[in-house]
Amino acid sequence: MSVKVVVGSLWGDEGKGKIIDFLAKDSELVIRAQGGNNAGHTIVVNDKKYALHLMPSGIVRPSCYNIIGDGVVIDPISLMKEIDFLKSQGVNCDNLFISNRASVVMPYHILIDKYSEEKREENKIGTTGKGIGPCYMDTVERSSIRMVDFLDISEADLRRILENKNEFIKRNYNDDGVTIESAIEELLNAREYIKGYITDTTVIVDRFLKEKKNVLLEGAQGSLLDVTYGTYPYVTSSHPISGGFCVGGAVPPNAITDVIAILKAYTTRVGQGPFVTEIEDSIAHYIREAGNEYGTTTGRPRRIGYMDIVALNYSIRINGVTSIALTLLDVLKGVEKIKICTAYELDGKTIMHYPASLKELERCKPIYEEVEGFHEDLTDVTCYDDLSDNAKKYVEKIEELTGVRVDIVSVGPGRHQTLVRQK
Ligand code: GDP
Ligand code: IMO
Ligand code: MG
Repeated sequence: MSVKVVVGSLWGDEGKGKIIDFLAKDSELVIRAQGGNNAGHTIVVNDKKYALHLMPSGIVRPSCYNIIGDGVVIDPISLMKEIDFLKSQGVNCDNLFISNRASVVMPYHILIDKYSEEKREENKIGTTGKGIGPCYMDTVERSSIRMVDFLDISEADLRRILENKNEFIKRNYNDDGVTIESAIEELLNAREYIKGYITDTTVIVDRFLKEKKNVLLEGAQGSLLDVTYGTYPYVTSSHPISGGFCVGGAVPPNAITDVIAILKAYTTRVGQGPFVTEIEDSIAHYIREAGNEYGTTTGRPRRIGYMDIVALNYSIRINGVTSIALTLLDVLKGVEKIKICTAYELDGKTIMHYPASLKELERCKPIYEEVEGFHEDLTDVTCYDDLSDNAKKYVEKIEELTGVRVDIVSVGPGRHQTLVRQK
């Protein structure tokens, strides 16, 4: 039996979807516990590409149950479209279960997301615009609609809620808000479509744990986007760290057996916020194109940087990481010297910790070590030992600097392009 948490180690898009899909072959259950359709998890199976947003990445394996858990915020209209699209691709989704405790992302959350970003002017967070922050705000404020209540909400109550929110939008943003009648129609239509999937998922989680099944917990976003531990306020509104699963996935802390950090061979970030190892030169351009570093959810070009061991070691500590899966190693092919940031210089001093203060972070300069790059195409390599010496040295350098073993190396988007190292 294993209960493996798979977390994004830094700012998301590390290849969590790909690794979850790979690991799901030996698992009976995959759980999402936080975030919503701000996530974009790509899996590639036999050259067929699926971009998942709310769906857990075990969904294309029929033998694996998939839960959208209690801590997720769910846009029912977007979820309906996602299920519908998957069905059109031959994925029947009979293995999907949706928490009745999850909060519903309403059309007004999406509008409020847009208007609060506009109000931030030059301090924009760069949200995905999916209404995630405003929905979590309502949840914490105790006014959101949970799935269990959405199931039997009357049209009159729905209209009253929409009218109240439209007044709020008028007052604060001088806009008419959502078109009430079409919003009601779309919401009720989506409810009809998804209602058969909604259940008390805590019961399923408990059963799988009692039966000692193999369970995978699929993080969305990344640890440095965590609302407490990330680069606040340039973060998301949930807890993408390993502890988030206990809160949002109904998984007790003592059930967790492994914490796997998904780590890109370089670093990316979408949206605003500090990024000490960011580069904007020809290497950044090369990596962006070779790694197709454009957002799965928004299509925005991702910011690019080198490996940041200071940020990574912070993430490893707060997550209790037991193992690393290193992804997109193939993309670094042809980079002459690969830089690794091992410390920061802050006001003339060398520091090894990740500052909480954004002002300090902005003054931090990366201190780099270099390793020799590699020039071989790695995408056809099928076993770790067949990687070139320089590629292996990079992997081993990361292990040395973190004290955590790299157990998986990914050399392409496909399922088969995954190298599992022998223990
Ligand atoms: P996630 O949000 O963490 O699931 O990551 P995304 O799906 O947003 O972004 C990762 C991108 O890299 C996707 O396009 C994947 O198909 C792709 N990918 C994952 N692993 C690898 C890899 O090892 N090599 C290459 N070249 N692409 C990969
Ligand atoms: P996956 O799961 C990368 C970023 C946004 C923005 C900030 C807040 O695919 O790794 P939000 O819409 O959540 O309020 O935006 O968080 N962000 C992500 N960045 N990958 C993601 O998900 C992200 N989800 C949100 O770009 O900076
Ligand atoms: Mg993504």
